[in-house]
This record gives sequence, C-alpha cells and structure tokens, in this order.
Amino acid sequence: MVKYGYMNLIEALRLQVEWGADEALLDAPQDRRAPAPAASAGAPAQAGRVHAPRHVARHATVLPAGPAQAAKVAEGCESLEALQAALAGFTGCALRDTATQLVFADGAADARLVVVGEAPGAEEDRAGRPFVGPAGQLLDKMLGSIGLERAAVRIINTVPWRPPGDRPPTEAEVALCLPFLLRHIALVRPRALLLLGAVAARAVLPEPERGLGIRRLRGAWRQVEIPGLAAPVACLPSYHPAYLLRMPSAKAEAWRDLLQLREFLESLPAQG
Ligand code: URA
Repeated sequence: MVKYGYMNLIEALRLQVEWGADEALLDAPQDRRAPAPAASAGAPAQAGRVHAPRHVARHATVLPAGPAQAAKVAEGCESLEALQAALAGFTGCALRDTATQLVFADGAADARLVVVGEAPGAEEDRAGRPFVGPAGQLLDKMLGSIGLERAAVRIINTVPWRPPGDRPPTEAEVALCLPFLLRHIALVRPRALLLLGAVAARAVLPEPERGLGIRRLRGAWRQVEIPGLAAPVACLPSYHPAYLLRMPSAKAEAWRDLLQLREFLESLPAQG
C-alpha cells in the first residue's frame, strides 16, 4: 500500500488540478474501465438521445478521428436533433473523455442571430448548457441591453465539451469540431453571427483574418460563406464576456459593437 505524507498529498492534488481534475463530481470513485451494464431487454430507446458508453469514449482517445470523419458525420445531419445525436455519439474528440457531458446549444432553433463562444467551463459542463456561469450572466445582460432575449438567439461554442481545467481549446480541437459548428450554423440559417473572442473569430473567419487578434478584428463586419447556406452570413467579432469581466475598460468598445449589431438586426425585413 502506498503511504502518502502530507506534502505528497498536496503534490498529488496539485497534479490532479494540472490535469484538469479540479472538482469532485461523485462521492464514490467510479471504475470507468468496467464494462457498461447490459441494457435491460425490451427497454425502450430514448428518442433523440444517443449516449455512447464510456468505454467507447476511452478507446477514442487512442484512435482519434480526424476532421474529415467529423465532416462526414456532420454533413449527414439534416436536423439539429440529428446533429446533437451525432455529436453525442462522436468519439473522435478526446475532450469528451474528460467532460461530464455534451454542451450542445441553447436558444431558438431558427434564431436570426447565432452567438459563438469559445468552450464550456465548469458550470456549463455541470448544467449541459452554454454560457450559464459569470460570463454567461454578462452575455445575457449584453444581449438584453440591445433588446435581445437569450431565448431568441442561438448560443453555441467552438467545441461542445469543456476542456480540462478550463484551458482554451487547442487549434486541433477547434479544427476537429469545426464541421459540427458549421453544420449547426447551416441548420439554424441565421442572418448574423456574433463571434465572441479570438478563438471563435479564428474558427469561423477565413484567412487572412484568421491570424489577427481580436482587438484588430472586433467591430468590423465580415461576410463569411458557410457550407450549406446559399448566401454568405454577416459576422461581427467582438470581445468575449469573460475578457470584459477581467478588463472592464474594454466594455465601451463592446458596447459600440452591440449597437452595430442592433442596427444590423433592425435593418432586416420582418420574419415571415
Ligand atoms: N465561455 C464560453 O466561451 N462558453 C461558454 O459556454 C461559457 C463560457
């Protein structure tokens, strides 16, 4: 039996935090390698939800699927429900192994505005909904300040699983999840995208903008072609609310961006 001294325990805990295991979710330890319990015979399948057994997700860490496979899966989805089910069953992204659950989206399926954030954090991971923590509360206020209710817009992230320890998603993780993000946008068919922060802007904007920082990108509209949509979509990069919480002096610029967004949305013909 290994005996831990006081300092060893502190070191072991620190290591766990570095790995991203920064919260206790269950009282009792779980053996995730144990075979999944057999489904009871005759149990009805849950409509619209596909939960891959945990041991399949573990296997995916060893054999990651590439963006090409992700694109194939995403392109085959003809509805948001199908996309959610496909993502729930997609084992190609290692982020799902460390996340509690998929954080798919929030808001209206036919929204005129899609808000793209970076990645779920601890609170979103627990709730299964994007932008419910402090940054989400600020986002709600920002939307409210231009007369938009949260429920009227579609809120998604570049990656739908929480990165361990709330680190930013890597470029490879964003690239892997991009086909799902683009398909999500194509299925909602919005008139505008609000890209919150550099990670979202880089994911959606093509070259050469992709290489620019958010301070250079924010506040300027770009038309972006999204596969599956007949016309380019107007995209407005702006600051991420988490950045605004750390840097309140940037709120004046963010407010100018929001006013532009309101003006654009008000200029659209009424939805029929
Ligand atoms: N930050 C994000 O970018 N997305 C969330 O869902 C929460 C915080």
